Amino acid sequence: MTPVTVLGIESSCDETSAAVVRNGTLCSNIISSQLFHSEYGGVVPELASRAHLRAILPIIRKALDDAQVSIEDVDAVAATQGPGLIGSLLVGLNTGKGIAIARDIPFLPVHHIEAHLFSPYLHDPHPEPPFLGLVVSGGHTLLILVRNVGKYELLGTTIDDAAGEAFDKVAKMLDLGYPGGPVIDARAARGNPNAVTFARPLLDSKDYRFSFSGLKTSVLYHLRDRAENGVLRLNEDEVDDICASFQRAATDVLASKVLRAAKEYDIRDIAVAGGVSANSGLKHALHTGAERIGRKVFIPDIAYSTDNAAMIAMLASLQLQQGAQGGLQSPAFARIADSMFQ
Ligand code: KG4
Ligand code: ZN
Repeated sequence: MTPVTVLGIESSCDETSAAVVRNGTLCSNIISSQLFHSEYGGVVPELASRAHLRAILPIIRKALDDAQVSIEDVDAVAATQGPGLIGSLLVGLNTGKGIAIARDIPFLPVHHIEAHLFSPYLHDPHPEPPFLGLVVSGGHTLLILVRNVGKYELLGTTIDDAAGEAFDKVAKMLDLGYPGGPVIDARAARGNPNAVTFARPLLDSKDYRFSFSGLKTSVLYHLRDRAENGVLRLNEDEVDDICASFQRAATDVLASKVLRAAKEYDIRDIAVAGGVSANSGLKHALHTGAERIGRKVFIPDIAYSTDNAAMIAMLASLQLQQGAQGGLQSPAFARIADSMFQ
């Protein structure tokens, strides 16, 4: 019998999440975010794993309750295998394996980035392969050609900072707190994107590599130049202008490369996922640019584009449809393995 009810678990970073997908339809998605990390200006791995350990069972229980299924109704369990923080991953992975062993049902280890690529499948309509997938988060910036489930071609990745990391670092320079993306986005809406011309590294390179470190440095130099005797005083309007100009530079590069790839590879559908996909400047640039060249952009709701278990359960469900058997021999891994790509 083909399994139809999948319990998904995600614990790769600072979100503990569980979700149920039944017959390809999402029934529940519970996410508990570890907000206390903001106090430290970034995620503290050891504290993250301990918090996952406390949260995981109640979160799974709630996901099952919300989906109105009991643990006996679950036909397969899936959990994020990597990339991510090893200690955090182990909590979700081993909880998932434990449930699968106890219930004698398949366990599917899921690649976090692969799950992000298919997160638009949580909505209808969704992109159809072959499609382009842009994954932009605090840890990743990847442009991938998705030929089908399990068949991926890496077109380009960042050679230094991730896109979200650049937002976080610029927010830190401006003393705007962590995470930086949402606050920069909000302030950019009030500022002038043409006030300062920041660097747009690799914008004109012929490939699909990205670089955000030079952009971040260009903001840093601008702030240094503005300081008098080492003291920087900016009024609120100036901060808004810097946010708007930085955001325009970052999203210009992302959107222009994605749209160029859509033309070069003759791809109609474009999926965008990861925390930075919530950025209003990026959304605007992609939607207007795509419309101009007859392409379609799919961006999941924010709850499904940041880390969540719904995308884990959804990808596992697609894999099961293709005959995946799963297996318990699946260690956690920290970094993206080249083996994901053809
Ligand atoms: O996918 P995500 O929640 O977590 C991982 O990194 O895995 O992404 C978080 C990142 C942070 O760097 C945050 O600053 C960024 O996404 N972010 C945004 C926005 N909302 C979140 N960046 C730009 N604009 C936003 N509206
Ligand atoms: Zn992620």
